Amino acid sequence: MTTAPTQFGGPVLALADQRGGLGGVLRDRLASTVVVMERELRTAGGPTLDLVAYVERYRGKMLRPTLVHLAGLACGGLSPEHDIAAAVVETIHLATLVHDDVLDDAEIRRRGQTINALHGNEAAVILGDYLIASAFHLCSSIADQSVALRVGEVTKLLCEGELLQLHHRDDFDLELDEYYRIIDRKTASLIALAAELGARLAGADDETVRALEGFGRWLGIAFQIRDDLLDLVGEQPVVGKDLGKDLDKGKMTLPVIHHLRNADAGQRASTLGLLERLAHGQSRDRDSMRSALEATGSIDAAKEAAREHLDRARKSLRGLSESPARGLLDELAEEALRRDR
Ligand code: IPE
Ligand code: IPE
Ligand code: MG
Ligand code: MG
Repeated sequence: MTTAPTQFGGPVLALADQRGGLGGVLRDRLASTVVVMERELRTAGGPTLDLVAYVERYRGKMLRPTLVHLAGLACGGLSPEHDIAAAVVETIHLATLVHDDVLDDAEIRRRGQTINALHGNEAAVILGDYLIASAFHLCSSIADQSVALRVGEVTKLLCEGELLQLHHRDDFDLELDEYYRIIDRKTASLIALAAELGARLAGADDETVRALEGFGRWLGIAFQIRDDLLDLVGEQPVVGKDLGKDLDKGKMTLPVIHHLRNADAGQRASTLGLLERLAHGQSRDRDSMRSALEATGSIDAAKEAAREHLDRARKSLRGLSESPARGLLDELAEEALRRDR
């Protein structure tokens, strides 16, 4: 059974529909990406197939496949290898989510129960491995070996980002530079790769490939800042995943780092106490945390930082020739800032 990718589709496909035939093209390509993914993952039998069928039922926004296809369209056109590359990056992304939910003890993802909640951590760890292995198996069918090389490099970076984040758990002195280093690796690297591969597989020249990669990188950073904001101030039923997990797990994110730097000594001491209690499961008082962040303007400061990174993303597109796909990439960047899930 194929589940239609609709969630990111909401706003992005609606925008695409306003740009001539782009909505139809994108819908078709996301549908064929899903077919490629399912074909790869469903070679399994028995309990593996049950787990794969379960995670496949809950589709996310499909941001990364959308970027592969739009970058390809902006650089001259799509080939069947774009579907493979899109399926590869989405499968790697899915693996990281399955593993991330183990690390975060998360119970809800994409409005459904997580694999770890339903079947335990052991099953989730091995399913994540199965997904990564499937992504690399699928990737080896792309003729240009430089693609597999880049996918390997970026997947290593992504793991490094997660390990760096783990290393800084409960580090209330985390520096801003290090926060950016973490989110660049764990999130922006794969989003940048999606845009890069779309361009590369369309035969774009090196400068254009670099421009698309840059677009994805700045977009990816803004996207994670927005995600970190949603974790603090989002509405759980709208976001569709557990919130407050960053504080529960002692992960310092931009609004909290900004707050600790800008609060007066008394407020700082009180926030540090609250952070300790939240990270040790002795408090679930997210409202006090939110008020503290508001008092130092830290929510607005993080929104501003996301906006600055998106502006950089959009600047990266300037060298590309004008096309409906380039226009949609530009609008997609805006959507990443507005998103509430
Ligand atoms: C969630 O990514 C993890 C982050 C990098 C913030 P998405 O927000 O793209 O997740 P789905 O695919 O739509 O569920
Ligand atoms: C993104 O970080 C994780 C990955 C890159 C896998 P988060 O931990 O913030 O992701 P969510 O919020 O659980 O989706
Ligand atoms: Mg998480
Ligand atoms: Mg998050």
